[in-house]
Parts: sequence; structure tokens; C-alpha cells
Amino acid sequence: MAETPHSPPGLPVVDSAFKLGDDPIRYLTAVQEAYGGQYPIIQVDPLAGPTVNVILDPTLVHEVLGDRERFKRPNLGPQAQRRNGLLASDGDLWEQQRAVLQPEFVGGQLASYADTTGDAVEALLASWPEEGELDLWSETSALAMQVIARTLFSYDVTRDQCDAIHEAMQDLGEEFAFSPLATVLPQSLQPGPSEAFEEANEAIDALASDIVSWNRSQDEPPQNLLGALIEARQDPSIELSDNELLDQTALFITGGHETTALTITYAFYWLSQRPDVRERVRAEAQTVLDGDRPGWDDLAKLQLTERVIRETLRLTPAAWNITRAAQRPVRLGGYSLDEGELLLASPYAHGRDSSAWEASTAFRPERWGPDGDATRAHDSYFPFGSGPRSCIGRQLALTEAQFTLAHVLQAYNVEVLVDDFDFQPAVTLQPSGPVEACISKL
Ligand code: HEM
Repeated sequence: MAETPHSPPGLPVVDSAFKLGDDPIRYLTAVQEAYGGQYPIIQVDPLAGPTVNVILDPTLVHEVLGDRERFKRPNLGPQAQRRNGLLASDGDLWEQQRAVLQPEFVGGQLASYADTTGDAVEALLASWPEEGELDLWSETSALAMQVIARTLFSYDVTRDQCDAIHEAMQDLGEEFAFSPLATVLPQSLQPGPSEAFEEANEAIDALASDIVSWNRSQDEPPQNLLGALIEARQDPSIELSDNELLDQTALFITGGHETTALTITYAFYWLSQRPDVRERVRAEAQTVLDGDRPGWDDLAKLQLTERVIRETLRLTPAAWNITRAAQRPVRLGGYSLDEGELLLASPYAHGRDSSAWEASTAFRPERWGPDGDATRAHDSYFPFGSGPRSCIGRQLALTEAQFTLAHVLQAYNVEVLVDDFDFQPAVTLQPSGPVEACISKL
């Protein structure tokens, strides 16, 4: 076997680096389709920046994501701004933080989050007209923001605050979008941070700071994620830096709401493409909920709704790309990689791989049923990552998306007017503009 991974056959080096920078989503999907069965890894060597290894063999994806010793999450993109947050921390600090935060995302806590989601959906629906058009992405963004702020920080955000953060996330998306310049121009010639980027960070910091101050001003220690962090400070064996509260708050309000809002938006999009499935989801919601809001006990009964969310995350995973860097010279899949080389694993490209999925680009929630092909393609499905650094908010996001879909469809028809998305290759899979939808009360 070759020592160094193959480059995409037939393409000049500059061409593949340019394509990766220019339209990474399309490029990674095309490479997966063309070479997936042939090569476990394909190497792209940009003129600027480190060598990039695209992981095509799904078993290697799980090997890389499962091994914190050989492969580290590089601090690229917005997490570089939040060095003390869980996404960016590493080593002992990460282990301590994850142990302190994990209990906030399991068991009884999740059941109470379900109630919060119900309140937030009801407030959102009360603000909707009986009929009209709206930007579904900003609506789901405000909803998910409210859920995160209340569940993790006991804080009520205003719609203005939600809209400011929604705008900030789009500006950050533009700043961190892949670009051909980033792969072919040396760092010294690349443009510096834009004004919009600075303002976006200020807006996020301002909200994070309000949330921390409000929690600190309460007489009793808050029973929430911040409370858990503050309490952990009393334990001398846990080293938490002064900036951690702010960084964690900023990380969770941004990372925790945007991914979920996109997932809910895309679920409504796919259901608009498949009105037959939408009617069945509505019928399920009406039977299970009977006019009420969803409660924790309904979760297991909303089966089709759950499959719709899973299928949405296969075709339009909000985190479309996961990156690691080799910590030292390593062997992987029979190849040698140098220290610092990057590895890309794309849930989007693997989710659409035709060798793993039947009718891979078709929206078919039934594939997640007992006789579906989804269990066979398991390794190719990793929208929440894999291994120890996989998503801490996975269950919260799934519950929120499932409940929101059932709750809304019981009361409203939502028709997304976008036919095909022009994605922005940002940190998340953002649409390039508003997602217009037509709503009508049933
Ligand atoms: C559908 C919604 C979501 C998706 C698709 C998603 C996706 C992901 C993925 C793929 C990772 C792993 C990244 C990597 O390995 O480099 C991750 C990590 C993470 N996610 Fe999520 N996420 C979602 C919702 C949430 C929510 C609701 C929260 C918080 C409330 C959250 C907080 C985090 C954090 C803190 C990490 C870093 C975990 C660590 O390094 O220990 N995510 N997420």
C-alpha cells in the first residue's frame, strides 16, 4: 500500500485545492462518490496551509474521531475565539469541563428541557399570523435561542436579542466560510477580520456577559449549567480560568442554538418536498398529542417525527464538516501522515454516499424503520460526530427538533418556498439567505 494517501487522480494539485476552497461541500461529496470504494483517504495539498486528508472510509472516520491521543480538534473558526469553551479546550482541562457539564445533558434535566421547548414553541406560534410569509430560519433561530437561554442559563432572551445573535451568526458564517483564497494564498496575503466580524463577536459577548451577570446577581446559586460551573470552582482540584464562564456561555448560546435551528428549518424544507410525509407526520402528532403540547412521555410515540429528524440530519447535517489535526507523525489506514496535517470527515458527503445508502439523495424517513437500510449504513452516519468529543447536546437537540416539528405541524401548515439550497460553506451548513416559508393556521 502507498505510504502517502493518493491525490485525486487526473486533477492538477492547484485545481483540487482550488475546488476544495471554492465549493467544499460539492467537492467533498464528488470525491466521496468517485473514490470512496477505491481509496480510504484522498490527499489535497493546498498551496497555502497544511496538507488536507479527506477521509473516505467510514471506519477510519470513527478511528480518527475516537482517538484523542493521535488526533486533535484544531482550533479553527469561531472556537478559536472561545479558547476556554468546551469545543476548544483539550487535555485535562477538557476532561474536567466535560465531567462537570455532562450531567446537564442527561436524564431528568432533559425531561425539564422538554417543557421549556413546549413553552417556547407556544410563544412562537402565538406571535405568528393566521396566514402569511416569514423567514423560517430566523423564526427557528429565535426559538432555539430561547430554549438554550432558558434551559442552560435560566435566562429569558428578547426577540431583539435573538435577532441580533442570528445576524451575528450569519456574519461569522461569512467570515469563516471556506474560500479559494484560503487554500491558495499565504496567510500574510489573506484579508484580516472584517468589521462585521468584530461586531458579531461583540454582540455575542454582550449577551453572554448579560447572562453571566444576571445569574451571578441571584441570591441562590442557579440550578443550571452556569451553576454547575460556579460550583465546580469550589473544588480545588478543578482548574477553571476566569474567562471560562463567559467563553462557555458564548459557546453554548451560539453552538447550541444555530445547529438545532438549522436542523428544524431543513426538516420543514424536506417535508415541503414530500407533502405526503408531512401529512403523515401531522397525523402522528394529532393522534399522539390530541391538541396538547408534547411532553416527555410522548417522545417515544412520535416515531415518524423522529425518523424525519434523523433523515434531515443525514442529507443536511448542520455540522457538515469535522476536522482533526495529526498530533505527531502517525499511521492511519496503512498511510503515513506528518504532524500538523489536517483530516476532514464530512457527515454531508458520507450521508449522501451511494455505496452506503439506497437512493442516497432521496429523502426517505422510512429507511430508519425496522426494515430500512439505515442500520447497514451506520458508520456513514455521524451528524453528531463520534467518540469522546462527540456532541454533548445531541439528545437536547434531537428532543427539541422532534417536539417542535410535531407541535407546529399540529397547528400550522408550513410550506418552505425554497426549491434548492445554495449553501454557504461556513462552519455550519447555512443557507445563503433567508428561508421564505408560507404558513397557514389549520
Ligand atoms: C442538530 C444539532 C446539533 C448538531 C448537528 C451538532 C453537531 C456536533 C458535532 C458534529 C460535534 C463534534 C465536533 C467534532 O468532533 O469536532 C459537536 C460537538 C459539540 N456540540 Fe453539538 N450539535 C448540535 C447541537 C448541539 C447543542 C444543542 C449543544 C449545546 C446545548 C451542542 C454543543 C456541543 C459542544 C459543547 C460540543 C463539543 C463537545 C466536546 O468537545 O466535548 N451541540 N456537535
